[in-house]
Amino acid sequence: MRFNDKVAIVTGGASGIGRATVLKLAGEGAKVAINDVNLEWAKRVADEVITAGGAAMVAPANVTVRSEVAAMVEAVLKQFGRLDVLVANAGITRDAFTVRKTKDGQIKMMTDEQWDAVLNVNLKGTWLCCQAAAVPMMEQNSGKMSLTASFGMLGNMGQANYAASKAGIVGLTRTLALEFARYKINVNCVAPGATKTPMTATIPEDLVKRLIDKVPLHRMAEPEEIANVHAFLVSEEASYMTGQCLLVDGGDTLGV
Ligand SMILES: NC(=O)c1ccc[n+]([C@@H]2O[C@H](COP(=O)([O-])OP(=O)(O)OC[C@H]3O[C@@H](n4cnc5c(N)ncnc54)[C@H](O)[C@@H]3O)[C@@H](O)[C@H]2O)c1
Repeated sequence: MRFNDKVAIVTGGASGIGRATVLKLAGEGAKVAINDVNLEWAKRVADEVITAGGAAMVAPANVTVRSEVAAMVEAVLKQFGRLDVLVANAGITRDAFTVRKTKDGQIKMMTDEQWDAVLNVNLKGTWLCCQAAAVPMMEQNSGKMSLTASFGMLGNMGQANYAASKAGIVGLTRTLALEFARYKINVNCVAPGATKTPMTATIPEDLVKRLIDKVPLHRMAEPEEIANVHAFLVSEEASYMTGQCLLVDGGDTLGV
């Protein structure tokens, strides 16, 4: 098993892609700390892992709060003794709404609150988790991080905040890869296409149809298909990869 004796933190591990990644890593031998702000769902995922014979703990923290992130890493070290893997997956959307139509098209208005919320969770939260996780990894002189961008980083109507945060993840990945290489820590990221999770469950049916119509593979991703790529990136199989972003989007962005 690829992750025997490895300890992993998955942020946003209570739902969707995070949950699938927890189950994948635990299924291949990792002891997994499930971070989330939704502790009820996180506990449910931990119970799933433990029922299947694996090892898991709930690691509460709002990823935007430095002190909570530091306490999370401390709790994981206390419980499992080391830290080998970080999958920084926690993320949110707060899309702009249409305020009026002009003869030239729609005007989208984004509030400061929407901008700050998304940049804080998606970009600052990822950065804080990487910084905190790097401390024990640097001491061990080993570690793997997989961050979460999105095909939305290429630009999406109403998602200036989300696109900026996810494009920022690519810059963060490349910079941390440079800074952490001397400590044998690999840093890469996954950019999923539209994936069937609670995040996309509220998209109106006609919009989902339009989304799928332009995907060459003609469907949304299952969360497990994204989890598989996170697992690859934090495994020894990706030992010579660092600073890279893998688009996992069914071909959606081909030809763009
Ligand atoms: N679903 C998609 O189509 C899609 C596409 C591209 C990228 N992504 C990215 O994949 C990641 C996972 O998305 P998902 O679709 O599984 O979403 P999801 O909403 O199912 O899960 C996200 C989890 O993050 C947690 N979370 C939110 N804010 C947090 C915070 N401050 N601290 C800790 N946990 C927090 C939520 O409680 C939730 O459990 C996100 O980064 C998202 O941007 C998703």
